[in-house]
Amino acid sequence: MTAQLIDGKAIAQSIRSQLKQKVSARVAAGKRAPGLAVILVGSDAASQVYVGSKRRACEEVGFVSRSYDLETETSERDLLALIDQCNEDPSIDGILVQLPLPEHIDDTKVIERIQPNKDVDGFHPYNVGRLAQRIPVLRSCTPMGIMTLVKSTGIATHGLDAVVVGASNIVGRPMTLELLLAGCTTTTCHRFTKDLEAKVRQADLLVVAVGKPGFIPGEWIKPGAIVIDVGINRLESGQLVGDVDFEVASQSASWITPVPGGVGPMTIASLLENTLYANENYHD
Ligand code: GUN
Repeated sequence: MTAQLIDGKAIAQSIRSQLKQKVSARVAAGKRAPGLAVILVGSDAASQVYVGSKRRACEEVGFVSRSYDLETETSERDLLALIDQCNEDPSIDGILVQLPLPEHIDDTKVIERIQPNKDVDGFHPYNVGRLAQRIPVLRSCTPMGIMTLVKSTGIATHGLDAVVVGASNIVGRPMTLELLLAGCTTTTCHRFTKDLEAKVRQADLLVVAVGKPGFIPGEWIKPGAIVIDVGINRLESGQLVGDVDFEVASQSASWITPVPGGVGPMTIASLLENTLYANENYHD
C-alpha cells in the first residue's frame, strides 16, 4: 500500500472536542445549549443505529437532544404537525428527520416543511440552492464532512478533475456542488453514464457513493488520486466494506478513506457543526 489513510474517525473526534469546548463556553456565558430534534419514523435497523449514534454524539458535546420515535404507520399529516411544532420551539435549533421514510410519506414534502434555518441536514432546496449559488450556509452533512477530509490532505483542490459516482440528493448532487465551489472540474456519474471506467480513470479526486461493495475496481484508480469512499456495505461474513476495492486502490491512490472510520464519522461531526452554527447565527 502506498496511499496515506485519511483518518475520518480521528478528524471527527477532534471536531467534536472543539465543539464541546465551544458549547461549554457558551453555557458558561449564560447562553442556551444548542438543541437538536431527531425524528425517526419506523423501525429500519440501519436507521435506528444511525439515529442512536447521532443522539449520543449530541449529548457528548453538550447539546440537548430531543428524540421522537414514531411508528411506521404515522401519517404524513402527523409528521408534518410535529415538524411545525419543532419549527416553533425556540429551544430547538436543528431538526433532523432520518431518511428513508416509510413509502406512504413524501420525503420532499417533509424536507420542505423544515424551516430552512433549522435544516441542519442541509437537504432543504433553499440550502442546496445557496450552495449552488456559492453562498452556502447550512451544507449537506456528508459532502461537508468530505470537504473537511479533503482539506486535511493539504492538497489544493483548484483545477482538479473531480469525479463523483452517484447522484443522490443526500450525497452525489450536493457533493458535486461542493467540489465545484472548491474549484474542481466536476463530472457526476450515474446509472446512465457511458464508459464509467474512462471517467473514473481520469479522476484526480474520486468520490464514490453507490452502496455496492467493490463497485469500483482498484485498477481504475489514477496514480496519485484522492479516493473518498462513502459506501458502507456489510458482507455476508459480517465485514464492513466500501464501494471501492480498497486493497488494490490503495496501491495507486495518494490518499484514501478507510471503511469503516473514513466518511461515516464525518457526517455526524458536520451535523453537530451545523447545529451549533444554527444556534449561534439564527436562534441566539
Ligand atoms: N439517511 C442517510 N443519511 C442520512 C443523513 O445524513 N441524514 C438523514 N436525515 N437521513 C439520512
